[in-house]
Amino acid sequence: MTTLLEVSGNDPMTDHHIIPLDFDSIDGVPESHSWPPFDEPLNKIQTCDLQDSLIPVIDLTNSKAMNLIGQACKQWGMFQVINHGVPSNLVKKIESESRRLFALPTHEKRRVLRSSNGVSGYGSARISHYFDKGMWHEGFTIMGSCVDDAKVLWPHDFQRFCDTMDAYQNQMKQLTHKLLLMILETIDATQEEIDWAISTHDSRSPLQLNSYPPCPNPSHAVGLAPHTDSLLLTLLHQGDINGLEFFVDGLGWRHVQAVEGAFVVNLGDLLHIFSNAKFPSVSHRAVVNQSKHRISVAYFHGPPFESRVAPSAKFQKPRFKSLLVKEYLSLKSKHCDALSLIQT
Ligand code: OGA
Ligand code: NI
Repeated sequence: MTTLLEVSGNDPMTDHHIIPLDFDSIDGVPESHSWPPFDEPLNKIQTCDLQDSLIPVIDLTNSKAMNLIGQACKQWGMFQVINHGVPSNLVKKIESESRRLFALPTHEKRRVLRSSNGVSGYGSARISHYFDKGMWHEGFTIMGSCVDDAKVLWPHDFQRFCDTMDAYQNQMKQLTHKLLLMILETIDATQEEIDWAISTHDSRSPLQLNSYPPCPNPSHAVGLAPHTDSLLLTLLHQGDINGLEFFVDGLGWRHVQAVEGAFVVNLGDLLHIFSNAKFPSVSHRAVVNQSKHRISVAYFHGPPFESRVAPSAKFQKPRFKSLLVKEYLSLKSKHCDALSLIQT
């Protein structure tokens, strides 16, 4: 079975793309992490009012949920869900365990730094190598079991962290399946296609803990630079601190308003391909703020890497070539705009 390590391993990243800033000792935004002010050219259009988020918040217990999800997928490629069945105490726990990890001193976190061609561990955003400037961000990726890393961080108290991560991943897996069934039904996917979409490349999907410490000069720093997510679907817990933004043609960057207890669902490149571009793979980014330490948790779901991805059989004129998932991920690891390279 191909692992994420093999797919991304073709292009080992250099150290400065792996090691986050030492947030314990830093008191300004260094030149290496200083981006042009947001009005130009990163964000030509002013960020809109916080209250003015466009993407819908959908109650999964609503009898019209499937229709609303279908509409949101077509229009935005993104929506939020509430009443999703994930226990709120587990969400609180994952946030507190994530904060416990990122509150460790820098030298301790660096003991579990991910390797140059690895996936799991502490490090900078995986998209760092696309950009000249670094990001105001540190992350911790869990792929499969996190016991080895957790034992290094907390030799006598690692179980609490691992149990929380395991329980959360199980809940994310169930919610992903529920959402995918609804999304795929709106485009009349066949049973075989549904089976493909809900299967995973491994027993586990990657879980990414993101940390955005308070930033002395937020208008010159970027938490996570603009990108699309590569797999089928991402479920993001963003707590109660705003920071996630998505790009709308003609409107510019819009906030995704933090809604208590909600998960942000955003569609990734593979679903864009499968839907024959009917669903956008929305470009999004994270901005930082001066006073609050923002934490988010992203769960990325994708099908087996050895399987093929192509527009659903129902589309008469496929807009993308068919290719192996691992071929697409390998292309994406080199080209931020991989989607444009596989158009027919
Ligand atoms: C990601 C992502 C956004 C956020 O992890 O891919 O887009 O708000 N995160 O942390
Ligand atoms: Ni993302």
